[in-house]
Order: sequence, then structure tokens, then C-alpha cells
Amino acid sequence: MGYAKVLLGVLLVSALSISTAQPLARFKCSKAGETCTAVIDYVSPNKTTLSAIQKLFQVKKFRNLLGVNNFSSNASEKQTISEKQKIRIPFTCACSNGTGLSNHSPNYTVVGGDVLYHIAAEVFSGLVTYQEIAAANGLPDANKIEVGQVLWIPLPCSCDDVDGLKVVHYGHLVDAGSTVEGIAEQYGTKSATLLSLNQMANASELKAAQVLDVPLKACTSNISSNSLDYGLLVARDTYFYTARNCIKCTCGRANNYTSLQCEPSGLKPLSNWTACPPVQCEGAGNLYIGNVTSSGCNQTTCAYTGYDSQNIFASLVTESTCPGWCNLLSLL
Ligand SMILES: *[C@@H]1O[C@H](CO)[C@@H](O)[C@H](O)[C@H]1NC(C)=O
Ligand SMILES: *[C@@H]1O[C@H](CO)[C@@H](O)[C@H](O)[C@H]1NC(C)=O
Ligand SMILES: *[C@@H]1O[C@H](CO)[C@@H](O)[C@H](O)[C@H]1NC(C)=O
Ligand SMILES: *[C@@H]1O[C@H](CO)[C@@H](O)[C@H](O)[C@H]1NC(C)=O
Ligand SMILES: *[C@@H]1O[C@H](CO)[C@@H](O)[C@H](O)[C@H]1NC(C)=O
Ligand SMILES: *[C@@H]1O[C@H](CO)[C@@H](O)[C@H](O)[C@H]1NC(C)=O
Ligand SMILES: *[C@@H]1O[C@H](CO)[C@@H](O)[C@H](O)[C@H]1NC(C)=O
Ligand SMILES: *[C@@H]1O[C@H](CO)[C@@H](O)[C@H](O)[C@H]1NC(C)=O
Ligand SMILES: *[C@@H]1O[C@H](CO)[C@@H](O)[C@H](O)[C@H]1NC(C)=O
Ligand SMILES: *[C@@H]1O[C@H](CO)[C@@H](O)[C@H](O)[C@H]1NC(C)=O
Ligand SMILES: *[C@@H]1O[C@H](CO)[C@@H](O)[C@H](O)[C@H]1NC(C)=O
Repeated sequence: MGYAKVLLGVLLVSALSISTAQPLARFKCSKAGETCTAVIDYVSPNKTTLSAIQKLFQVKKFRNLLGVNNFSSNASEKQTISEKQKIRIPFTCACSNGTGLSNHSPNYTVVGGDVLYHIAAEVFSGLVTYQEIAAANGLPDANKIEVGQVLWIPLPCSCDDVDGLKVVHYGHLVDAGSTVEGIAEQYGTKSATLLSLNQMANASELKAAQVLDVPLKACTSNISSNSLDYGLLVARDTYFYTARNCIKCTCGRANNYTSLQCEPSGLKPLSNWTACPPVQCEGAGNLYIGNVTSSGCNQTTCAYTGYDSQNIFASLVTESTCPGWCNLLSLL
């Protein structure tokens, strides 16, 4: 590939950036060295497809792009995304030096005619500033990028617990006319939490196109510490495929966003398994992963507890649903 130098006057870059640059959207992340799953909004500058977005952000599994958006799990890669439509992107966050950034990804390869400002503000819809891209990549001169050069895009994120709970941090692109209270209500959190997390003194500081750190409640699971997906966090209103695609886990309103609901996905397994093993819980009856039985106030679930190189595991988990539904059940 021929390398053509793309140069742009300092004046042009600064003039463009003054009018549109957003304040640095850095999220607090206190546990150095920690990595976790995170989510961020993306608004495509033009009509595109889900697969183009998957490619741009290098999302490994298409199904998990569908999952964070709660799209139908059989949606096509060719599905059209209209201009200005918001799409959520899943990625891995790494915590360092008090802040969280996407873990040296996604990589973007410079094409002819690109300038850093265009990459930051348009291609990546203002999720980062051109200064942040320059700093992350150690560019001595933000005006000098070359066709074919690979830049990583430092997306803001966090792995911190919020109010003592594990959450998935969601970089929410604020719409014009939104309020802190409205956003808190929509995503099941509190205004005070949003203000403190985003180091805002006052709700009137909220700005359109700001990337706001919104903690999404995650469902609790029974995945054991020796499972290959230990630490899996599935945020409210999303689903995730795990155990080599054999298991689909959902955190939904149906269960009041409490414990993760996992069931066989019906998909072919990834990697070297020839078929997904059917997983039965030991003991009572013929309960398979995802089966639920009720007895009086008790609800027993054959819950997913993890996988290793050869097996998928499950065990019975009994929860009391009293007193709310107890009476109802006895009437049925
Ligand atoms: C996806 O599956 C649902 C039911 O599972 C079906 O109604 C729908 O038509 C399917 N959509 C596509 C694009 O295959
Ligand atoms: C860590 O952050 C401080 C200020 O927040 C900065 O001065 C320092 O250079 C950073 N260190 C690294 C290794 O990024
Ligand atoms: C991004 O590029 C860097 C340097 O070329 C490479 O080390 C890294 O593995 C790439 N990341 C991804 C996700 O491809
Ligand atoms: C859509 O936007 C992307 C990112 O800016 C760009 O690479 C692509 O060429 C655009 N496509 C069209 C059809 O304008
Ligand atoms: C919030 O900030 C705005 C503008 O900075 C100010 O007018 C308003 O009085 C502040 N409200 C509170 C409750 O501090
Ligand atoms: C399953 O998870 C729930 C909630 O975290 C916990 O209370 C329970 O002890 C776990 N059960 C098993 C069998 O791990
Ligand atoms: C997610 O999708 C499921 C199935 O289509 C639906 O029942 C549920 O209401 C959706 N949740 C949200 C928050 O849209
Ligand atoms: C759902 O959970 C919330 C918070 O944990 C609780 O306040 C609410 O009563 C629950 N709703 C139902 C229908 O269980
Ligand atoms: C293939 O399966 C074996 C055990 O059956 C396992 O040890 C190995 O890691 C697997 N390979 C991959 C690539 O998953
Ligand atoms: C239990 O799970 C199996 C496997 O997913 C399913 O075929 C069966 O219908 C379920 N049984 C009940 C009672 O839900
Ligand atoms: C419900 O579970 C508790 C403990 O797990 C047990 O002591 C009790 O007998 C169970 N009740 C019913 C109706 O199964």
C-alpha cells in the first residue's frame, strides 16, 4: 500500500474543534489493572448496517452486539441502521491511573482524506476527542497521520461498583432535551448517583452530546469461580451468549432484574465441541438448565453455574418468593 501523507494546517483543526469539541468524557475507575465489560452508545453519521458497525468497533461476537441492544437474536448482519440511530456497543474496559478506557481497541485504520478531527467527531460520533486519540496513541503531532496507520480509539468506561453493587457502566450519549432525572428513571438509577458518578455539582450542567456514565444494574448469577466465564455481568434489558454459544442468559424485566435467567440457546457450539451437552441438574426430577418449578412459596431453578473445556454445569437454586406471590399461587 502506498503511504500518502495527510497533513492539515493547525489553524483548520483548531477552528473546527472550538465549535464542537465536548469536554473530556473521562469516567472514574479506581481499581487499577481491572478489566470488565462495558457499553457505549454510537450514532452512525450515515445509513449503515449492523455488520459495518460490528467491524468498526471490532465486536467479536455479532450475537453480543444484538444482545446489548436487545435486538432479536436472529437479526441479520445486513440489518440497516439509519442515520442518527443510536446503537449500543459492547467492549472490554481496562482501568488504569484512575480512569477506564477501552482495552487498546477498537483499532481504526486511517484512509485517504482522514484527519483526526473527522475520525473522532464523525466516524466515532464524538465519543472521544481528537486530542484523546492523539494522546492514547502517543502521536507527537495531531495533524500528522498517515494512510494505513492504525490508531486505537480510547472509549471512556469504568469497572467500579456503584453503591456496593456490581454494575455495567454505560456511556450514554445525552440527547438534546434530556434531564438527569429522566435518564435516571429510564435506566433504573438515581439522579444523585448520576451526578456524583459524573462529578457534576448540579443537574443543569447536563449537556446534549455529553457521554454520561450511567450504571446499569446487572443480574446476579450462580456462575462459579472456576468457570471460564466467571465474573460474567449481564446488564438489565440485555442478553448474552456464553458457554461457547450453547447458553443464552437474559437479564430482564420478567424477573425484575434480579437473577440471571439462562437457558439452552439452540445454537451450534463454537470451537471444538461437536454438540452442546444437554445439562441436567442432579437430584429432584428431570430438571434441565432453565427449568423452573414452584412449590408453595419456593421457586426452584436449574441454574447455569458455568462451563469448562468439556462440560457445562448447573445446579438447583431455591428462592423464596414470599410473601407477594405466595397467596396468589395458592389461589391458582
Ligand atoms: C426471528 O425469530 C422470530 C421467532 O423466533 C420470528 O418470528 C421472526 O420472523 C424471525 N426473524 C427473522 C428475520 O428470521
Ligand atoms: C496519570 O494521571 C495523572 C493525572 O491525572 C497524569 O499526570 C499522569 O501522567 C498519568 N500517568 C500515566 C501513566 O498515564
Ligand atoms: C490493535 O493494534 C495493535 C497494534 O497494531 C495490536 O497490538 C492490537 O492487537 C490490535 N487490537 C485489535 C483488537 O485488533
Ligand atoms: C458513512 O460514514 C462512514 C464513517 O464516517 C464513512 O466511512 C463512510 O464512507 C460513509 N458512507 C457513506 C455512504 O457516506
Ligand atoms: C445549578 O447551576 C445553575 C447554573 O450553573 C444555577 O443557575 C443554579 O442556581 C444551580 N442550582 C443549584 C440548585 O445549585
Ligand atoms: C445463587 O445466587 C444467589 C444470589 O447471588 C445466592 O444467594 C445463592 O446462594 C446462590 N446459590 C448457589 C447454589 O450458588
Ligand atoms: C427486550 O426484548 C424482549 C423480547 O423481544 C422483550 O420482551 C423486552 O420487553 C425487551 N426489553 C426492552 C427493555 O425493550
Ligand atoms: C423489583 O425490585 C425492586 C428493587 O429491588 C423492588 O423495589 C420492587 O418492589 C420489585 N418489584 C416486584 C414486582 O417484585
Ligand atoms: C478442545 O477440547 C479439549 C478437550 O476436549 C480441550 O482441552 C481444548 O482446549 C479444546 N480446544 C479449544 C481450542 O477449545
Ligand atoms: C426443561 O428444559 C428442557 C430443555 O431446555 C425443555 O425441553 C423442557 O421443555 C423444559 N421443561 C419444563 C417443564 O420447562
Ligand atoms: C421452601 O424451602 C425451605 C428451605 O429452602 C424449606 O424449609 C421449606 O420446606 C420449603 N417449602 C416448601 C413448601 O417447599
